[in-house]
Amino acid sequence: MDTAIVCRELSHSFPIGEERFQVLDRISFQIDKGEMVAIIGPSGSGKSTLMNVIGCLMTPEQGEIEILGKPTPAMKKEQLAEIRQNHIGFVFQQFNLLSRTSALDNVKMPLMYRDDKVGDADERAKHCLTLVGLGDKLDSHPNQLSGGQQQRVAIARAMVNQPDILLADEPTGALDSKTSEDIVELFKALNRKGQTIVIITHDHEVAAQANRILHIKDGKLVKDQQTRLEAIA
Ligand SMILES: Nc1ncnc2c1ncn2[C@@H]1O[C@H](COP(=O)(O)OP(=O)(O)OP(=O)(O)O)[C@@H](O)[C@H]1O
Ligand SMILES: [Mg+2]
Repeated sequence: MDTAIVCRELSHSFPIGEERFQVLDRISFQIDKGEMVAIIGPSGSGKSTLMNVIGCLMTPEQGEIEILGKPTPAMKKEQLAEIRQNHIGFVFQQFNLLSRTSALDNVKMPLMYRDDKVGDADERAKHCLTLVGLGDKLDSHPNQLSGGQQQRVAIARAMVNQPDILLADEPTGALDSKTSEDIVELFKALNRKGQTIVIITHDHEVAAQANRILHIKDGKLVKDQQTRLEAIA
């Protein structure tokens, strides 16, 4: 089985005054292509930091990472950008939408950075917004949308590139339970089509929909759990 994400002995610390805070502490795991994995753990346990490291947005102090078989910490900035732009979709915990830009243009953004030109960018972005239930909000700016709607724009933006790996940080945090279920179903459908999905969540019902749950505590991987879904499949 080809690997999507390999982490070996990842460690990272942040300075707090004179001290250092160990945010990731020798984390190792492997996620194969086509898996749907949830990451759960208490607030402050290092989940978003781990996501930033996997997503090539920051380099850890120690450890090895391979994304789609390629070791990333040794890569140059341009190579890291290529991986982010062409192979990874992000849903950020704080959405990170451009505020003076319509929902449609926000979703189109990842297509603009691709090396190859995408001719049907408008159609693809509209399709993704329709899938997340916002087909009637194409021209709305983020400040005209509710928190849950902004979150769904962020999800559409992460999907538009059809990335090999979709990383989603609390993608259902601002959603009511019905919309949350719809979004998880959407992730499962993308996963069935072959995308590798990693979802950080506080919600145990969301986590239970994944094939596997990684439990993080104090920057450590404390449990690597196969869910029942896997056993049935
Ligand atoms: N850039 C930074 N500089 C200093 N400390 C940081 C930085 N980023 C994160 N931290 C600290 O690292 C710890 C882990 O942060 P992180 O955002 O990874 O947690 P998390 O598990 O995603 O939490 P939450 O569930 O609340 O989103 C926190 O204590 C945080 O204050
Ligand atoms: Mg977080």
